[in-house]
Amino acid sequence: MKDQLFRTVSRRRFLAMMGGAALTLATGCAATPPKPPAPIKKAARILTGDTSLDAQFLRQIVASDNRTARTVMWQSDEPQENAEVVWRVADGGKDTEIFSSPAANERYTDDGQNVFLHTARLENLIPGTAYEYRLIAGDEGTDWTPLSSENGGSFKALIFPDSQSSDYTDWKNLARDAFRRNPDAAFFTNLGDLVDNGEEHSQWDAWFDAVEPFSSRIPFAPVMGNHETYDKKWEVRLPLAYLALFAPPGNDSRDFFRYYYSFDFGDVHFMVLNTQWDETDDLRPGLLEEQLAWLPKDAAASDKKWKVAMLHKDVLQYRIGKRPERKEGFSKFGRAFMPLFDDLGVDAVLSAHLHTYRNRGHIKDFQRDPAGPLYILTGVAGNVRYPGLWIDHALDEKTAPQPETDNYMTMEAAKDALRFQCFLPDGSVIDDVTIRK
Ligand SMILES: [Fe+2]
Ligand SMILES: [Fe+2]
Repeated sequence: MKDQLFRTVSRRRFLAMMGGAALTLATGCAATPPKPPAPIKKAARILTGDTSLDAQFLRQIVASDNRTARTVMWQSDEPQENAEVVWRVADGGKDTEIFSSPAANERYTDDGQNVFLHTARLENLIPGTAYEYRLIAGDEGTDWTPLSSENGGSFKALIFPDSQSSDYTDWKNLARDAFRRNPDAAFFTNLGDLVDNGEEHSQWDAWFDAVEPFSSRIPFAPVMGNHETYDKKWEVRLPLAYLALFAPPGNDSRDFFRYYYSFDFGDVHFMVLNTQWDETDDLRPGLLEEQLAWLPKDAAASDKKWKVAMLHKDVLQYRIGKRPERKEGFSKFGRAFMPLFDDLGVDAVLSAHLHTYRNRGHIKDFQRDPAGPLYILTGVAGNVRYPGLWIDHALDEKTAPQPETDNYMTMEAAKDALRFQCFLPDGSVIDDVTIRK
C-alpha cells in the first residue's frame, strides 16, 4: 500500500487524468441534487412479513435537525423501482400509524462495478421518540430496524479517526468494540480517509461491513479526507464514490454539494469542513474560498450553545526527524480556518490525517489561550500507522502512548459540558478532557 500522506500531484499529472475523471463523472450520480422530499403519508402498501429485500449496507445519515429528520440509504445489485421506507413508533401497538417516504433509485457506476443506490428522507419525526423503520420494494421488504429521533438534550457520539487500511480487520474490531462498549451512542463520525483508495470498491465494502452492526441504527456524520480523492492509479480525481455513498445535509453549493455541511445534535452545532482543496482545486477551483464565505453565515444562523468543527487535515504542522526543513508551526489549513474559529466562538475542533492522537488544549490567535477552541487531533483507527514519525509540538498537551496503536473517541454533550475521551482498542482511557460553559 502506498504512503499517500505527503503526496503532491503536479498540474501536468492532474491534466493528464482529467479525461478519465470526466468519463467517470458521467456515470456517477454524486452531482445530482436530491429530489425534494415527498409529503409524508400513510403507507399504502400491505406490510407482509417478507424480509428478502436486497438491502446492502443499510445506513442512517445525519440530517440538519436530527430531532425531526433523518436520511436512510442502502444499496442493491438490481434496480428497486418504487422502493420506500416505512416507519412507525416502536412498541406503539397494532393501531400505530405507519408513515412512508419514497426512495430514490440511482444507478451508480465506479471501479467497474454497478450498484443501485437508494436514498430516502424521513421527516416530521417527533423529537425524542423511539421509532422503527423498514424498507419495502415490490413484494419484498426487510426487518424492522430501530431509529431514534433525538430530543435536543444530552447525547454521546462515537468519533473515529482515519480508518484507511490495507486490511480492514483492525478497523472492524475497533469500530464494533467501540459500539459494544457504547450502546448508548447517538451517532458516529469518521474524520476522513475512511478508505485508503477512494475508487477501490472492495475497500468501501470493507468499511461498510465494519460498521454494519450500528450504521442502520444510529446516523453517520461523514467527513471527507484526501484518500477519498485517489483513483486506483493513485492519481487525484473528484471524490466520486464518497459523494455518491453518503448524502449528508445540503449546503446550497453548486460546485461542492456534499463536500461540506453542518448539522445539529443536542445543543451542539457541528460544522463539517473540507480540507481537500489541494486535491480538488485543479479539477474544480474554489473549495476553500466557498467555505470561508459559508462558515460565518452558517455559524451565525445557529442558536445552539456549542459549536464543534470537524475537518480532516490538521491545523498544526509537526516536525519530522528526516525532514529538518519542515518547521513546527501551523498548517495552511490551520492558517485558513483558525482565525474564523476564534471569531465564531467555536468550542472544539476535531481533526485527523496525521494518524496520531494529540490533545493540544485551547489555542487562540495562534497561541495557547484558554479562551480559544480546544483542538484535538483524533488519532488513527485503521492499520496505517506512522510509529515515531512526528516530533512533539510545543502545543501538545497529551499524546497517545508510543508507538501508537489504534484509538477511538467519545464525545459526551451535556447542558453545561462537552467531554471528550480517547480510548485504546481494549477500552482503556488515555485522555479525558471536559470543556464547561
Ligand atoms: Fe489518513
Ligand atoms: Fe489524510
